[in-house]
Amino acid sequence: MPHTARFTVDPEVSVGEVDPRLYGSFVEHMGRCVYTGIYEPGHPAADAAGFRTDVAELVRELGTGLVRYPGGNFVSGYHWEDGVGPASERPRRLDLAWRSIETNQVGTNEFLTWARELGLDPMMAVNLGTRGIDAARALVEYCNQPGGTAWSDLRVKHGYTAPHDVKLWCLGNEMDGPWQTGHKTATEYGRLAAETGKAMRQVDPSIELVACGSSNAEMPTFGTWEREILEQTYDEIDYLSLHAYYEEFDGDRASFLASGAHMDQYIRDVVATADHVRAARRAKKHIRLSFDEWNVWYAARFVGERNLETAETPRLIEDTYSVTDAVVVGSLIITLLRNADRVAIACLAQLVNVIAPIRSEPGGPSWRQTIFHPFAQAARFATGTVLRTDVTGSLIDTQRHGEVSALDTVVTYEEESGALTVLAVHRGQDEPLRLRAALRGPLAGYRVVEHLVLADQDPDAVNTEAQPDRVTPRAGGGAEVTADGALEAELAPVSWNVIRLAPAE
Ligand code: AHR
Repeated sequence: MPHTARFTVDPEVSVGEVDPRLYGSFVEHMGRCVYTGIYEPGHPAADAAGFRTDVAELVRELGTGLVRYPGGNFVSGYHWEDGVGPASERPRRLDLAWRSIETNQVGTNEFLTWARELGLDPMMAVNLGTRGIDAARALVEYCNQPGGTAWSDLRVKHGYTAPHDVKLWCLGNEMDGPWQTGHKTATEYGRLAAETGKAMRQVDPSIELVACGSSNAEMPTFGTWEREILEQTYDEIDYLSLHAYYEEFDGDRASFLASGAHMDQYIRDVVATADHVRAARRAKKHIRLSFDEWNVWYAARFVGERNLETAETPRLIEDTYSVTDAVVVGSLIITLLRNADRVAIACLAQLVNVIAPIRSEPGGPSWRQTIFHPFAQAARFATGTVLRTDVTGSLIDTQRHGEVSALDTVVTYEEESGALTVLAVHRGQDEPLRLRAALRGPLAGYRVVEHLVLADQDPDAVNTEAQPDRVTPRAGGGAEVTADGALEAELAPVSWNVIRLAPAE
């Protein structure tokens, strides 16, 4: 008999609403994310503006609704003015973040037009590394002011009559990181972020602002950085950022599969810090979180890969993802959803080629990586209200995260349609796991619509250009509602599962 993990699902006991911005993504001017990723004039599938329609089709299928741009570390040396106006007159610049040549053929207007055509809300970052208040407030004016001022009239002159109406803005990127061009102390960044945010809001009071939290939870200043930034910016900002990338260390797969436990603790720590500052200020507003970079990234493999040749489109961090990576990504999505009461925004980093769910070859095809699937399925089905799930039962001991539940799960419920979605990851590697969920209240009489599974005999299997669909989800996972009104399913080792239920007809 397999071990069993149990929980109860009751629509009366909820965590919060799923903000569609939790299914965000990220396009940075880095490697081949923009050039030969989303944009490749001359490609057989390029549209009149030079954007690849095959890649755009996959972006649509991925279901992301928000896209962060233009960086990332790139933004900390970026002159946005280089990327507007006639393309033939734009300068070629040395990008210090990735030691690449930036041709500026894609800039603010091209990117925002592409994003809007795909129905994506943009989340723009301003340069608080080498620049500051003036460049930031000019960019907001260029983007959002209808006309009648120097910057907005320049946009109109560039051919973009209607304002871009960008609502969400990041005040720099990873400013606590010594690698960042224009790296700052918390005191320096906090003051600059507060004053920049104030000026940007003076241009457009309707915008929302994200201040930089730590670059990751292992930074030596983690915790104190958040506290000081919030003390300085509390009245100006709406969100504080978190970034985290996970990888398998020294063959310790059990810990890697439990990465969600780390993400969960990280979120709790930042929430606690934000609420401490709130209490000390007697503030009413709750700061919400923007987890605006997260993914699996084999950073250890990247160390020898720094781009020292200053190429235009270097192949940087083009990780190829396995079944195990997809299961971890699924578990990270579950973690973000379980914290939907405080995490409003999250961006899978990045969108194409650079640690991405979508890969493309110059002049060639594009395809879905394994991690594409859990993201696309969650974005499509896990909407509405997150219900509370307190799992008991089978535990796994891990070196890095201690004891974790073998079952990682979250449940969403759409009151109007009655649709209930259970996302579930089995972190165990050897035996199947039995999931048993008691269905309460209006869920009595529910039936299983489908049980989709992503798992494989080979947990290291990947999708490649030659075999783009080697790993795809399959239907027929076998979940059922038992006579005593419980959802039961047997979950394969290292598996991602989507179980959809609906009221009986
Ligand atoms: O996503 C790749 C890089 O990771 C980003 O540029 C930076 O913000 C982070 O360190």
